[in-house]
Amino acid sequence: MESASDSSIRVPEVQLSSTAAGSRPMPVIGLGTAADPLDAAAMKAVVLEAIKLGYRHFDTASMYGSEEPLGEVLAEALRLGLVGSRAELFITSKLWSSDAHADRIVPALRQSLSNLKLDYLDLYLIHWPISCKPGTYVYPVDEADLMPMDFEAVWAAMEECQRLGLTKSIGVSNFSCKKLGNILNFAKIPPTVNQVEMNPLWQQKKLKEFCKANNVIITAFSPLGARGTNWGTNEVMENESLKEIAEARGKSIAQVCLRWLYEQGVTFVVKSFNKERLKENLGIFDWELTEGDYEKIERIPQKKMMLKEEFVSAKGPFKSVEELWDGEL
Ligand SMILES: NC(=O)c1ccc[n+]([C@@H]2O[C@H](COP(=O)([O-])OP(=O)(O)OC[C@H]3O[C@@H](n4cnc5c(N)ncnc54)[C@H](OP(=O)(O)O)[C@@H]3O)[C@@H](O)[C@H]2O)c1
Repeated sequence: MESASDSSIRVPEVQLSSTAAGSRPMPVIGLGTAADPLDAAAMKAVVLEAIKLGYRHFDTASMYGSEEPLGEVLAEALRLGLVGSRAELFITSKLWSSDAHADRIVPALRQSLSNLKLDYLDLYLIHWPISCKPGTYVYPVDEADLMPMDFEAVWAAMEECQRLGLTKSIGVSNFSCKKLGNILNFAKIPPTVNQVEMNPLWQQKKLKEFCKANNVIITAFSPLGARGTNWGTNEVMENESLKEIAEARGKSIAQVCLRWLYEQGVTFVVKSFNKERLKENLGIFDWELTEGDYEKIERIPQKKMMLKEEFVSAKGPFKSVEELWDGEL
């Protein structure tokens, strides 16, 4: 790991595999931009502040509605000289399920680039391992619109995106070991990242080992359990063991979660549109968790937040969805 930020906080970075030559490494901490509703003005103010503090990695998706304001504020940051050049930034976006059809992928990425006012992304991810009816941009997805993904055709189009120079790297999100293993079997350009839910309440031990063995970097989303959002849970930030560790270390619960992720060797995207918390979330690189802390975290009962019921709006019992989901998510 090396350091790239020239601001007060130096954010470590990881080199991605199977990325285009000369690509910049990925800063371990990225700023998430998913919010419902999204306050674009607040987000833009926070991104400027984040850049001043040392954030260089920003996570968006066509589904978040944050690509356009993010593009505007990044252009402003460049104009203001807060970053020297586009090359200093690391921008991730994601392919929505209704565009996860071979012929729609390059156009969808071009649309994201146009929204972001960028010539290329650093990382483009398949948002979910499921396709849905073209032209349907709703979340949660209507069960009637779900379609199985043609993984080989979709991945070949993702590879084309990288070959065309529209993105430096390609990867996946919300992929289980089984689905990731499937892509790795035929990929000419292997996925370099799998962005998944991960925090002390959903530790992803099996996926972590699988990704490590296959040179895939995990990016943890909802590292604080998406506290206070309509898809998240407060259980991470209210966990008693994490609270005890935080008190003993003189840190916040959020910092304990983020430090734990950093020590797991994964990268993570955390969302805060609050300037103090933005700064707090960077305060994790100059202290360590102890063995005793690890023992406590090890004993936390595991509970996944993002269930298929979050993704699909239907009354259940989700019989058709079960076939698309492999039960490992
Ligand atoms: N690939 C996927 O399917 C997927 C799914 C979900 C999320 N994501 C990405 O991951 C990013 C992060 O995940 P997330 O937004 O779901 O959840 P998160 O980062 O775990 O939590 C965000 C929530 O925590 C609060 N927060 C942030 N820092 C805090 C701190 N230090 N102390 C107390 N509260 C704090 C934020 O409020 P304030 O803003 O008020 O600080 C916000 O309500 C998203 O924004 C998105 O970019 C990807």
